[in-house]
Amino acid sequence: MKQVLILIYVICFWGKLHAQETVDNVKQTEISQKVEVLLAKMTLKEKIGQMNQYNGFWNVTGPAPTNGGAAIKYEHLKSGQVGSMLNVRGVAEVRKVQKIAVEETRLGIPLIIGFDVIHGYKTISPIPLAEAASWDLAAIKKSAEVAASEAAASGINWTFAPMVDISRDARWGRVMEGAGEDPYLGSKIGYARVKGFQGDDLSKKNTIAACAKHFAAYGFAESGRDYNTVDVGMATLQNTIFPPFKATVDAGVKTFMNSFNELNGIPATGNAFLQREILKKEWGYKGFVVSDWGSINEMVAHGYAKDKEQASELAANAGSDMDMESYGYVNHLEKLIHKGKVDIRLIDDAVKRILTVKYELGLFDDPYLYCDEKLEKSVIGSPENQAAVLDMAKKSIVLLKNEKALLPLNKKGQKIAVIGALAQDKNSPLGSWRLAADDNTAISVLEGLKNYKENTITYAKGVVLTEGKTDFTLETKINEDDASGIAEAVALAAKNDVVIMVLGENGFQSGEGRSRTTLDLPGLQQKLLEAVYEVNKNIVLVLMNGRPLTINWADENVPAIVETWHLGTQSGNAIASVLYGDYNPSGKLPMTFPKSVGQIPIYYNYKSTGRPTIPAPNMVFWSHYIDESNEPLYEFGYGLSYTSFRYSNLKLSKSTFKNGEKIILSCTLTNTGKIEGKEVVQLYIQDKFASITRPVKELKGFKIISLKPGESKEVGFIIEEEMLQFYSAKGIWEAEEGDFNVFVGGSSNTILESEFELVD
Ligand code: BGC
Repeated sequence: MKQVLILIYVICFWGKLHAQETVDNVKQTEISQKVEVLLAKMTLKEKIGQMNQYNGFWNVTGPAPTNGGAAIKYEHLKSGQVGSMLNVRGVAEVRKVQKIAVEETRLGIPLIIGFDVIHGYKTISPIPLAEAASWDLAAIKKSAEVAASEAAASGINWTFAPMVDISRDARWGRVMEGAGEDPYLGSKIGYARVKGFQGDDLSKKNTIAACAKHFAAYGFAESGRDYNTVDVGMATLQNTIFPPFKATVDAGVKTFMNSFNELNGIPATGNAFLQREILKKEWGYKGFVVSDWGSINEMVAHGYAKDKEQASELAANAGSDMDMESYGYVNHLEKLIHKGKVDIRLIDDAVKRILTVKYELGLFDDPYLYCDEKLEKSVIGSPENQAAVLDMAKKSIVLLKNEKALLPLNKKGQKIAVIGALAQDKNSPLGSWRLAADDNTAISVLEGLKNYKENTITYAKGVVLTEGKTDFTLETKINEDDASGIAEAVALAAKNDVVIMVLGENGFQSGEGRSRTTLDLPGLQQKLLEAVYEVNKNIVLVLMNGRPLTINWADENVPAIVETWHLGTQSGNAIASVLYGDYNPSGKLPMTFPKSVGQIPIYYNYKSTGRPTIPAPNMVFWSHYIDESNEPLYEFGYGLSYTSFRYSNLKLSKSTFKNGEKIILSCTLTNTGKIEGKEVVQLYIQDKFASITRPVKELKGFKIISLKPGESKEVGFIIEEEMLQFYSAKGIWEAEEGDFNVFVGGSSNTILESEFELVD
C-alpha cells in the first residue's frame, strides 16, 4: 500500500513539475515572438538605446533639467535612447521617468529600473558576509525575498546583487559584499539569493531581477587593492572563481555584471572569453550582461583601448550588452556598425536579451506594475520585514571565544559598562551599501541592551569614532588622534562587573574602494581595549566589522569575543539577545581570520606544496614563515555555541565505489552541554592525487542540526561522483579515479576522518 501511495505521489509530483515546465516554455515562446516583432520595428538608434543605461538625474519637483549632463540624458530618454536607469527610486520618481519612456518615445518601450539592493532596501539586513556566516540557506533566501519585496514596492525592477566574487583577501573592502572564500558555500548562497530576489515568477509585484556580479575574478585583485589587476590561472578560475557564477545561472539569474578588473591582461568588460565563450556559450546563459559603472571607458585607462570609441567596439564585441554610464554605446555604436567594426547581429542579440527580461518582468503588460503607492507604504519597513531581518541578524552572529562562562550574561544583578563609540552608533550597523535606508535607523547595541532592564548599564564612548560619510567620499582620519575619552572609560570599567566593549570598523571602513593594509582595530581602539583590560578583565568584546580582522591580542587576553559584523536595522536587538542567551549563536566563519596581514591570501582549501611540514627540529627549508605560524587565528567554518557538541562514530557504507554508485556517510552528533543548540555539521573531501594538484580539503556539504541537551542524532551525507569533479588537466570537468580522504567536523579543522576510493 505504502509503495502504491509513493508511486501516486511521484507521478503527481512529476506531473506537476512537467505541467509547470510546459507553461514556462509556452510563456518563453510567446515572449520571444513578441521580442522578434518589436525588434523588427526598431531603428538602429532605438536598438542602441536599449543598450544604454543612465544614472538617475530627475528631480521630481523641478522642470525638465537644463544643465549639461542632465539635459542630454533627458533628451535621450525622450528619443528612446535609454533602456535602463539606475538609482531612481520611490514610486513617484520611477513613475516620472517611466512615463517619459512609455508615453513620449516612438515605441513606448518601458525602462528597467536598477538599484543596488545589496542587503536589504530600506529595512536593512546583515551585510552578505554576515549572512553567509549563518550557513542558513532558507534564511538567506528569505532575506533576499524581503529586500526584493521592498525594492519592488518602491518602483525598482532589478537589483545589482548577489555579488558572488570569491575572495581570499580581507584587505579588499568588498569582502563584506560576498559570501567569503569558499566556492561551494558561495555557490549555495548565490543560488539561494537569486531564488529569493527573483522568486518563481518575475512578473509578480514582489520579485525583481537579480544580477550575478562581478564577472569575473574581481575578488582576486592583487594586494587586495580595489580595481587592481588580476592574474590567475585557468584552474583557479574554473575551480574556485567560476562555480558560484555558474550556480546563479543554474538558478535562472536574469542578468550578469562584468567587472572593473583586468583578467590575465584583458579587462573583464572587453573579455570575450568570459562573456561569450564561457557565459553565453558554454553555460548557455540567456540573460543580458551589464557593464560595471563606466567600465567600458575604463578600458582606455587600462591601456586596452585607444579611445572611447574603440572601448565601445571591444565591449560590444566581447558580449557586454548594456553600457552603465560610459556613454560609449550611445555615442559610438552606430558609427561602429556603419564602419563594419561591430556586427548588427550582436546588437540584435543584446537587445533581444534586454527586451526579454523586460517582458518577463511584466513591464510591457503594465509599465507601472511596480508603481503602486499603497503597496509602497504598506510593505516598506513592515513588522514582518523587521522580524525577518532580526532573525537573519541573530543567525549571522559568530561566537569566537567564551571563557570564564562570561556569556551568556546574567539577566539580573549585574553592573555592566558598555564602552566604544560603535555601541551607540545607529549608522554603522547599516554597512556601506544601504543607499535607500535612512541614516541612523539601526537599533544600536546600547538600545538593544537596554531592553534588559534588570541590570544597570552605563556607557562611555572611550575613543571618538569619526562617523562615516554616506556620499562615498574618503574618510582620511578615522578615530586616530583623540584619546581624551580613555580615562573616563577606564574609570567606568573599574566600577562594573562586566565590560561590553563594542569595537571594530565603522560602516564605511569596508565596502567598495575601502581596501586596507592592516586589519587591526582601527585608530585608538586597541589602546582603549588594553587600558580597560588593566582595570577589569571581564571583557566581552563585541566586534562590528565588514571583514576579518587581526585581533590576536584580544584572542589571547579577552575572555569572550562575539563577531557581529554589520548586522543591519535590527543589529542591537540581535546582539543583545545573543549576549543574554535568548538566542544561542550558531554562526560559522565564511572567511578565514588571519593572524597577520602577511599571511594573506590565507584560506582553508590551500594546496599542500612539496614541503608542507617541518622535516626535522629547527630545519628551515619548509614552507613557512620565520616570524609567524602558518595557522590562521580562526579557521574557515569556525564558530562556538553556548553548548558543546561531540562528533563520533563516522561510518561509510562502502570504501570503494564507481560512477553511478553512492557512498552513504554517517556520524553521530551529540549535544554535550546544558542547553539546546544548533551546529553546522561540515563535510570536507580531499582528492589525494590528481592530474592537477588539489586542495588539502574542500567543503562538499553541510547540515544545520538542532539538538536538545544530551540529545544525539545521526547525520548523513551522500557521496557521489559528481562531488569529486573538478577542472582537470584535460581542460574538462571530471572526477578522476583514485583515493580520497573525507572529513567531518564543526569547522574546517575537522574532527572525524575516513577514506574511500573511486574506481573505474
Ligand atoms: C559597483 C557595482 C555597482 C555599480 C552601480 C559600481 O561601482 O562596482 O557593484 O552595482 O557601481 O552602483
